[in-house]
This record gives sequence, C-alpha cells and structure tokens, in this order.
Amino acid sequence: MRELFRMDRQNYNPDGKVYTRPSSRAIIVKDGKVLLNYIAKHECYEFPGGGIEAGETPEQAMIREVAEETGHVVIPETIREFGIVIRRQQDSMDPDGIFEQRNYYYTCEVTDEIVPRKPDEHEVKEGAEPVWVETLAIPIHRTKKAFRRDGEAFMERESRVMEIADAELRRRSYEKTEENAIAALGDADYKGMLQFVKDTLLEVQTEGEGGVGVHKAEFGYTRFEHTKRVLGWAKRLYDATADKNGLCYEDLMIATVFHDVGRAVSARQGGDHAKAGVPITRDYLLKHGFSAERADYIAGLVGAHSDKWRMRDPNIDRNLLMLMEADLLDDMGVLGLVMDAMIVRARKPEATFYDCYNHFEFYTHPQQHDCPVVTPEALAFWNEKTEAVDRFMDLYRRDILIGGENYEGYR
Ligand SMILES: [Fe+2]
Ligand SMILES: [Fe+2]
Repeated sequence: MRELFRMDRQNYNPDGKVYTRPSSRAIIVKDGKVLLNYIAKHECYEFPGGGIEAGETPEQAMIREVAEETGHVVIPETIREFGIVIRRQQDSMDPDGIFEQRNYYYTCEVTDEIVPRKPDEHEVKEGAEPVWVETLAIPIHRTKKAFRRDGEAFMERESRVMEIADAELRRRSYEKTEENAIAALGDADYKGMLQFVKDTLLEVQTEGEGGVGVHKAEFGYTRFEHTKRVLGWAKRLYDATADKNGLCYEDLMIATVFHDVGRAVSARQGGDHAKAGVPITRDYLLKHGFSAERADYIAGLVGAHSDKWRMRDPNIDRNLLMLMEADLLDDMGVLGLVMDAMIVRARKPEATFYDCYNHFEFYTHPQQHDCPVVTPEALAFWNEKTEAVDRFMDLYRRDILIGGENYEGYR
C-alpha cells in the first residue's frame, strides 16, 4: 500500500522493541457526500474505523468498525487501497520501546441498508456520531483547529488524510466534467472533437475586450472552459426536458462543442465568431465520416447560435434553441458574480469591496434580471440563479452600506 505520510517523533531508541497497534479506516463516498464520525467532545472529525483485532485482516476490521460506528454496511467488492500512515514514537509504557501505529485507509462503498450501531464506551463518552458531509473543507478546518488546541496525534493524522482525500475527490470530479460529456455520447470521435476545439481555441488568445474593459485572459477566462460549462448546461437542459420531440442529443452536444470555435478566427481577424465557426465545424465533421447533410446541419447550428433574437421565433429549431439557452445560462448567477469581481480587480488592482458592489449593483444585478431564455426548463435554471444573485445582493448591500451611510466613506 502506498505511504501517504509518516508521523515520526524520532524520540526513541531505534533499536528498541517495537509495539504495534494497527488500525484501519474507511473513506466512503455516496451521492457526492463523505461519511465521517463527528466527535463532539473535541469538535473534530475522523474517518470511521479503528483497531484491528487479533485474527482480523485490515479490511475485515474496517468493515466491522464501519458497521459498529455508523450502522453502514460496506460492500466488500468495492474496497480499494487508499494508503497507509505510519506513526512512530517512544512507547508510553516502555521508555526503551517504540510505539508504532500503522493506519490503513481504504475507499469503499456502502449498501442502502442500516444496521444497529454498537458504539463502544469510549465513543459514547466522546460523543461520536456518524455524519454525511457535503464537503471535507469544514471537517478539515475544524479538525486542524482541534489539533492546534488539543494536540492529539489522531487529529493531525485525520486532517492530513482528509486533505489528501479531498484533493483527489475534487480532482476526480473536475476531470469528470470533460469525461462525463464524452461518456454521455459513447462516441470515440467525441473526445477528439473536444481536443480539437481545445487546441484551436488555446493556440490563439481568443478572449478580446468583450465589453469588460479588460482582456478576459487576465483573469483566466478561457473560451474552452466556457465551452465545457455550456456542455454541462446543454446536458442539464436536455435531461430536464420531458418532450424530446425535435431534439437530437448528439447533434446538440456536437454543436455545443464547436459553438465558439470560430473565436479562434475572430480573435485574429475580427468578424462574426459564429459564422467563422461554420467552415471549421463542417470540415472537421466531413473529415470524420459525417454525411454532408449532417455536417451542414450541425455547422448551421454553430453559425446561428449568436442570433439570440431568433429565440422568440416559435418555429425555431429545438436543438438551436437549447444550444442558445445553454450558452446564456453560463456566466450568470453566482459564477457571474465571481467573474465580475475578478473583472473589477483586473481592471483596477486596488479595487475595493465598494468597487465590486458598484459593478454588481449596476451591471451584474440588472443583467441577471434581463432574462433572455424562453423554455420553462431554462427559465427554472435562470430563476434559480436570479434568486441567488438577489439574495447575495441583499446581504452584500447590508454588509457594505452600514446603516445606509455615505458610500464615499467606504472608498
Ligand atoms: Fe458564441
Ligand atoms: Fe458561447
């Protein structure tokens, strides 16, 4: 098993007798949530698990401990090694001996079944309770804080393992944004399309001023990341739409992948990026075995995607409408607020909270209320974003305009 890290106090006689007390712990993820034990006494968290008893393998001990502490049943076939943490220090009983604790960590899944918990005396005394957490960020923060206060070795170990697990889980879900889009189609060509668009967009600086008075690349905005997010919106809209009449998922997704590829041309020589995307899309599809008719149709979606006035046409092609709505849903809501804060800062490095407030209030906020989407599915997503922005603005205004005093005081 790979070694995650070592906690070695080096305060012992290296030739001393070694006393071992191995334990094993479980990293369990279900529906995007992670199962932990919350320890009320220390206001900290740990992965469920505990000591390995005589005759047990680490896996068997982990399964038993998870059931006793949390009431969840591990599915043995899903157990995978995660890593080991080795702790060595002078033994507390034998000053000439070495205390060595090997902590084995596994990832695994659990069934839907719940069995009665059997917490031991120690766990009851400490107020240990199983909890499913949305993110490891808060448990890491709390457990590090507990370590700074109480200094117990398990707190250091658990917070560090949580950090490693969190980084891996987040990296995996980020990688999945691209993977999911590809897997949803099950077409090997699709991966190549995404790569082609990525290479085409990134080989030139695609982001111009874009009306924000600053080069968008300055705050890391790339057209390819936008494209991936729009793919996410296209998929969400498609999934949310019950009546699929006139929709073709594959055509929609391919058009979405290519929709802004023409920015590579317009960034260099100006002109309409949507129109510029037509020959690029068509060529690619023809070279990759698509019929001329289908290549023309998909390239046509790309060419028409920025004529947003067409959305009001009741006879609009449904794939085109969905592409437009997906495109419009990106850059809005909370992402829009964060983006606009980055824009304010990129324009003026000494920008203050008040500068952000001004930009949000007179740009982001009204833009959010200027709803361009038309289908009920897109409207539901749009309204969700509007509610978030309204709530954010109410609270931010209260934070910054204390008692409605003279704003100038905050500059
Ligand atoms: Fe576009
Ligand atoms: Fe776009």
